[in-house]
Amino acid sequence: MDLPTAQDLLPRADPGGRAVLRAVLAGIGGYLPETVVSNDDLARTVETSDAWIRERTGIGQRHIAQKHESCAFMATRAAAAALADAGAEAAEVDAIILATATPDEAFPATALRVQAALGAGGFGFDLSAACSGFIYALSMADAVIRTGQARGVLVIGSEVYSRILNWQDRNTCVLFGDGAGAVFLRAAPGTGLGSDRGILSTHLHADGRLGDILYVDGAVGQPERSGHLVMHGKEVFRHAVHRLSEAVDEALAANGLERDAVDWLVPHQANMRIVESIRKRLGLPLERVVRSIERHANTSAASIPLALAEVHGQGKLRPGQLLLLEALGGGLTWGSALVRL
Ligand code: ACO
Repeated sequence: MDLPTAQDLLPRADPGGRAVLRAVLAGIGGYLPETVVSNDDLARTVETSDAWIRERTGIGQRHIAQKHESCAFMATRAAAAALADAGAEAAEVDAIILATATPDEAFPATALRVQAALGAGGFGFDLSAACSGFIYALSMADAVIRTGQARGVLVIGSEVYSRILNWQDRNTCVLFGDGAGAVFLRAAPGTGLGSDRGILSTHLHADGRLGDILYVDGAVGQPERSGHLVMHGKEVFRHAVHRLSEAVDEALAANGLERDAVDWLVPHQANMRIVESIRKRLGLPLERVVRSIERHANTSAASIPLALAEVHGQGKLRPGQLLLLEALGGGLTWGSALVRL
């Protein structure tokens, strides 16, 4: 007897349509620290140059948090902006899922510091999946909404990588920045078809055997006891191009969509050369790729919602458009989400 494979059992756009709950993207917000550090600024402390950093990564500057700009502080600002954008009150928030690798404290979860600051109720937790954290958090939020456990969910990525970087290591310190981004998701009835508004699918992957190519060699919490980020850049680069190409194909196939259905590619902002290889694979013009790496650098779990907040602030997003989100990060972790606005 032929048993169905796991792939066969994945939810697909149902040709006949059936009632489902969708997690609709109702609001987007971001927060960037006030202090901006340019490539030239960094070239004064490590042996590097604006030309090298731009050519290899596409990064021109990064925002760096000052002491008061903690993970929770930035997350709260981004979350409040997302709620305001959605025209929602804190009372509408049933859950907060916050992705970070740089929480202020081991516990309570940063999500709950945000809950208290906003005056929200419900439940909340932090999630650790490095640069894929936002995609993982979005996937959990989608599940929470689809199963009726919450109707309004804040999904946040907030990072202070400046506190876990070795500022003497030019291989890593030039790549990252601080910031937070958030989206507010609302439950809404859908038909089960790909034309529904909301999250159409998420796909998550991980390979723990690759943990040693990108990691932090210590605990988080207090800056003086934190470890430092260690990265074997070339290997990560190679996996990123390969895995993310597979991930975008997987997302489209699961929804029965062709590449030209994508209105916006919203990639994790790690390296413009990685983004470029995915863009070419999809055959998308550059104008349909959301790019913030030049101004934000890699803000890990915050990079996708921050990029979304920027393009939304420019008034470029329209109802009905299809977003393809993808990210790869430490773990290794990687994944994608297809979202119709
Ligand atoms: N300035 C000047 N020279 C530098 C710098 C710098 N900042 N950093 C490294 N170099 C030197 C190296 O020492 C090396 O010199 P050598 O040839 O004399 O040894 C040379 O430049 C080339 O270095 P490579 O490592 O070969 O440079 P590469 O083209 O691979 O780019 C980079 C490095 C940008 C790190 C790239 O590999 C990359 O982007 N990797 C993927 C990063 C990523 O996607 N991370 C995932 C998310 S992060 C997360 O999850 C936390």
